[in-house]
Amino acid sequence: MISFLDIQAITGRHAAEIEAAARGVIRSGWYLRGEATRQFEQAYSTFTGTTHCVGCANGLDALALILKGYIHLGVMRPGDEVVVPANTFIASVLAITRCGLTPVFVEPDPHTLQIDGTLIEKALTTRTRAVMIVHLYGRCAYTETIGDLCRQHGLKLIEDNAQAHGCRYLHAGSPLNGKRTGSLGDAAGHSFYPGKNLGALGDAGAVTTDDAELADIIRTIGNYGMRPKYYCPTEGVNSRIDEIQATILQVKLKYLDEENAWRRHIAGIYARQLPAALCPIKPEDADKEDNVFHLFPIFCLNRDKLQHALIAQGIETQIHYPVPPHRQECFPQFHRLSLPLTERLAQTELSLPISPVLTDEEAIFISTAINHAYSTPTKNS
Ligand SMILES: Cc1ncc(COP(=O)(O)O)c(C=O)c1O
Repeated sequence: MISFLDIQAITGRHAAEIEAAARGVIRSGWYLRGEATRQFEQAYSTFTGTTHCVGCANGLDALALILKGYIHLGVMRPGDEVVVPANTFIASVLAITRCGLTPVFVEPDPHTLQIDGTLIEKALTTRTRAVMIVHLYGRCAYTETIGDLCRQHGLKLIEDNAQAHGCRYLHAGSPLNGKRTGSLGDAAGHSFYPGKNLGALGDAGAVTTDDAELADIIRTIGNYGMRPKYYCPTEGVNSRIDEIQATILQVKLKYLDEENAWRRHIAGIYARQLPAALCPIKPEDADKEDNVFHLFPIFCLNRDKLQHALIAQGIETQIHYPVPPHRQECFPQFHRLSLPLTERLAQTELSLPISPVLTDEEAIFISTAINHAYSTPTKNS
């Protein structure tokens, strides 16, 4: 059986170091807002190339804390609009609605599958205050068009970097060329959910930014709005990173670039072996550092049939995501929207196993099974 993601094996690669680090925290008797958090925040801000990193409880909170911080600073007000890709995980949208802001959905570019920068301008109104880009599947979503547009219109550029830790923006001639995701906009939210490229052994998240005022208010809001302790000038929430998760993340951060390189190697195998009609990644693009392949999506009209054929071969796959945010039951106010590309992607997407512990042989076996299933005529195909 090839599981979709073998988190036990991924953790196992660094088990001794992780256990020693966790033991250190357990023995210290200090479990929140301590030395491990401080050290991880320092390491992760250095890694991303930002001046501030604030740990928090999860990726959804990280995005919501950025927006709450901006509301607190008077940059936006409840009722204002935030542009967001239509094809994203629900959390990007929940962060916006949780803060009383309105999401405005924009379709993806059909080639990159990232928010289409050329469609954003049409989505802007007098109430737009920010654009949230999502580095979906681990691919950098930033473009010069988006950066320029935000500057011209005075909009905050927020990155949802839940899926692309360590990824770089590549654009020769740009001042941002080679910079990591999480440092490309005004602020970025990161998720360290266990299945992410940089995954904790539980929930964790962080905000990175170069904006000292924003970092400061986010730190306060995430700790009940207290300043000083037990005095609350601001209505806050409880969203902190555990010391144990912080120390585990610091161990795993050392191996992130190497693990992302292995993901690119596996992506290269898929890209070379699979039919171009299914695979959005060209073989020559697989080893570029603008993609850390959190997921390896393929797109297929007979997606469900293919998924069943792969299960029969012992290969587990997943769908990211079967229902786009604007079609979710919890959002009846968006059901009238027509976002045909996003809807088609939701009907045809299938994510293949990819991870630092997937072997060449497994990737070849999976590719062969897909090629076989894809070329075998079925009654309804
Ligand atoms: C694109 C995206 N944004 C936000 C999140 C939310 O992160 P978390 O699960 O840590 O709250 C996730 C992952 O779960 C995600 O994939």
